[in-house]
Amino acid sequence: MSDLYAVFGNPIAHSKSPLIHAAFAAALGQDMRYEARLAPVDGFASAVAEFVAAGGKGANVTVPFKEDAFRLATRLSERAARAGAVNTLGFAGNEVFGDNTDGAGLVRDITHNVGCALAGKRILLLGAGGASRGVIAPLLAEGPAALAIANRTATKAATLAAGFADLAPVEGGDFGRYAGRRFDVVINATSASLSGEGLPLPTGVFAPGSLAYDMMYGKGETPFLRLAREQGAGRCADGLGMLVEQAAEAFFVWRGVRPQTAAVLADLRSGLAG
Ligand code: ATR
Repeated sequence: MSDLYAVFGNPIAHSKSPLIHAAFAAALGQDMRYEARLAPVDGFASAVAEFVAAGGKGANVTVPFKEDAFRLATRLSERAARAGAVNTLGFAGNEVFGDNTDGAGLVRDITHNVGCALAGKRILLLGAGGASRGVIAPLLAEGPAALAIANRTATKAATLAAGFADLAPVEGGDFGRYAGRRFDVVINATSASLSGEGLPLPTGVFAPGSLAYDMMYGKGETPFLRLAREQGAGRCADGLGMLVEQAAEAFFVWRGVRPQTAAVLADLRSGLAG
């Protein structure tokens, strides 16, 4: 019987993960099945228990269950412990292994697909929620010249930044704090576009040739990337590549082989464009 995997979320119907993992499995000749599972918002643990009882070997976890998955894990990778959230679970015997591949996916997309090295760069990260927290340590591991966090609620940015002080100096504050400063890479990790609201980004934060990266994606240009383009960002990239790269990293965690991502990403991109 094929090894069984799934993605848990709520909602989950439009998840691209089953498509991505099916493509990886086919390309690598891995005998596995991957499905989307809707869990009740207050019933993540029992949905996972049911899945494990049915022979589930591993799972991806998306909104709103990444913190539930963190709590469910009996063993955490270092990067999941740092992120405070889990997007990849592995089941073996009684052990529930929790990992987080979001940050690795972001870094891989920026450095490999977009082709922008992060070493020595000045990075501005927008947002201080779970999405932001999950990517800070992997960004710092690239050796940027500076990492700054801007958030609508300044105290949350400052607290988040302080939590990584043992790794490197990170500063945090409200958006206004960065007026008059320039950055080489500006990453949107806020959920502002979901509510259709704009971000109070001071003009002038984009250095010449800078990269604007939105962890969100959708059909057409995202609101953040439109703003970035209008404010002079040199290059723009959305989060579709991060989605594919975090999936590839999860696949590697489970199967020990690393899928190629370019063809899958191109297929998804043309699907979105169509
Ligand atoms: P996630 O897990 O996706 O990060 P979250 O923990 O709810 O979700 O965090 C959402 C982030 O988007 C926060 O940084 C939030 O700012 P606050 O901490 O001030 O709430 C940010 N955000 C959401 N809507 C926003 C808006 N309209 N303008 C600016 N920031 C916004």
